[in-house]
Amino acid sequence: MRKYIIAGNWKMFKTRGEAINFLLQVSDKLPSSSLVDTVICAQAPVLRDLVKRQGDNLRIGAQNVHYKDSGAYTGETSAILLQELGVTYVIIGHSERRAMFNETDETVNLKIKQALAYDLLPIVCVGESLEVRENGTTNEFVKNQVVKALDGISENDVLNLVFAYEPIWAIGTGKTATPEIAEETCKAIRNAIADVYNEEVAQKVRIQYGGSVNPQNIDELLSQEDIDGALIGGASLDPDKFLSMVNSALNK
Ligand code: PGA
Repeated sequence: MRKYIIAGNWKMFKTRGEAINFLLQVSDKLPSSSLVDTVICAQAPVLRDLVKRQGDNLRIGAQNVHYKDSGAYTGETSAILLQELGVTYVIIGHSERRAMFNETDETVNLKIKQALAYDLLPIVCVGESLEVRENGTTNEFVKNQVVKALDGISENDVLNLVFAYEPIWAIGTGKTATPEIAEETCKAIRNAIADVYNEEVAQKVRIQYGGSVNPQNIDELLSQEDIDGALIGGASLDPDKFLSMVNSALNK
């Protein structure tokens, strides 16, 4: 049985005060991590404040990490610093970073290795553009992203990462993939993991769906066999909506 993982990706939203307030509003209402894993991924400058309030029922994540230990990489954040801060998760390869900050399957792979080396749990994003979806080559495209992300990652380490299937056409557009479409590609991701390792390992790795998830559509998405949680942008900014979506996972 895979445990659900509900993660908020706050992107470049919320001031420090708003971020702390959100945590104060939700922390005593969230279930124990023995039932559901709950994560908030925030901007780097506020991570320290949020980690101080991190508890068993709410873990804090970063939205990016560099793949080198240190160096002349102006504006980047090292895994060592994130580990020192006490951050638990890190989003890697979000489509916005792939599109706007030149992240490639190769850098995604290096970042996963770097995160794991510093005990950060990667949330690895994959997903196709509308063009790929319309070409009918989504599953091949996404499988290729998964195989490249996992290059050189051991069987033990893959159990510490989470995949997030996020079709680019569904992010921030209000167009959620239908549960059937989301399930079909999440299953393809699981098959790709089985091809790299074996079926037993693939059954243990958690796969989230992301892209316009909200309190109204999350139930049906989580009912799919291969969907083990959600990576949520817009709707995760509102504490009531976030709690409602965590409760959906809890009540499954
Ligand atoms: P959205 O974003 O929920 O606002 O579509 C999801 C994401 O980009 O992770």
